[in-house]
Amino acid sequence: MRKKVADSVSWVGKVDWEIRSAHGKEYSTHKGTSYNSYLIEDEKTALIDTVWEPYADEFVHNLSLEVDLDTIDYIICNHAEPDHSGALPVLMKHIPATPIYCTKQAVRSIYGHYHQDWDFRTVEAGDTLSLGKKTFSFHPVPMVHWPDSMMTHLSGNNILFSNDAFGQHYAHELLFNDLAEKCTLHEEAIKYFANILTPFSAIIQSRIQDFLATGLPVEMIATSHGVLWRQNPEQIIERYLQWCDAYQEDQITIIYDTMYNSTKGIAETIARGIQQHSPATRVKLFHAAKADKNDVLTEVFRSKAVLLGSPTFNKGPLASLSALTEEFRGLKFMNKKANAFTSYGWSGEATSMLNAQLIDAGFSVTGEGLRINWRMDSEELEKALQFGVDFASATF
Ligand code: FEO
Repeated sequence: MRKKVADSVSWVGKVDWEIRSAHGKEYSTHKGTSYNSYLIEDEKTALIDTVWEPYADEFVHNLSLEVDLDTIDYIICNHAEPDHSGALPVLMKHIPATPIYCTKQAVRSIYGHYHQDWDFRTVEAGDTLSLGKKTFSFHPVPMVHWPDSMMTHLSGNNILFSNDAFGQHYAHELLFNDLAEKCTLHEEAIKYFANILTPFSAIIQSRIQDFLATGLPVEMIATSHGVLWRQNPEQIIERYLQWCDAYQEDQITIIYDTMYNSTKGIAETIARGIQQHSPATRVKLFHAAKADKNDVLTEVFRSKAVLLGSPTFNKGPLASLSALTEEFRGLKFMNKKANAFTSYGWSGEATSMLNAQLIDAGFSVTGEGLRINWRMDSEELEKALQFGVDFASATF
């Protein structure tokens, strides 16, 4: 069922309330998501993006109830990832000759996924396509999120169809940011950036500035996931520019795993030391094997500094911590301090190994870290407390 976005612009996508992970099992979607597709009906009719493949039949059926599919003159594919292009094979069976406007890189990706010789019309920065009264202009934004990604601007309505940029995995029936729960929207937007877009921060900053330099007015940002930014759309552009710029809040995050609560005890003692030194700093603790990975990565993104703690097990850290440092490496967090600690019985390599992983991931390690043999006694409790004080002091 269509929802009105603006004059002659309708949302025809799918709200996925059920999904609990995207990118396979890589990204937790506690709040579901949506695949936003748009129908623009001017003198010509255009469809922007489709939906994820499992909803292809439903999408095409619903679309056919809203518009005679044969009257669709143009398909715009802003991004070839299957959560947006997944319904193309079903749709194109109905309208095989309809031209698909996309970047050159998208042709390769779409063909790579579906192996079909559809009528691709490649576009470059600034190319336009008239719909009659209104006109599309195309703005490739490679690596926001894939090399093929682009944004499409619609004149008249001044809507920027931004695809992945500015999106959130957030199912919502009311479509617009001013009708969404503000905290949830912010949480899902920052989680999306932290977990998906962080590695491309410098590129994103430059692509946003390139688009702003066009001077095109933007009255609404119509994303491909979650709610549309109708009220004050500049707010999410400003946030993206902040998030791209080695973003930090006044927060230190401690992530640990534990076998008999010794490492947990060290973590909590270090937290007290940090708070002793910096009472206003937000300190958050997470059990690496119990907490949601993507939520933890969002907290790391927000942090000035991170501490990792693990028992030494088989001469190294537990796998839950090493898996996390591999995520750190891939996400390329910037300008963050770090250190590590362990509770050990007879060797204690976890601290140095975690610190080596942190250095490899681009963190600035503040020292040799902390090793506590077995459980803390009162002397070692003081040592852990002081470690927290010293770490906070090195951070601020
Ligand atoms: Fe929502 Fe990069 O796909």
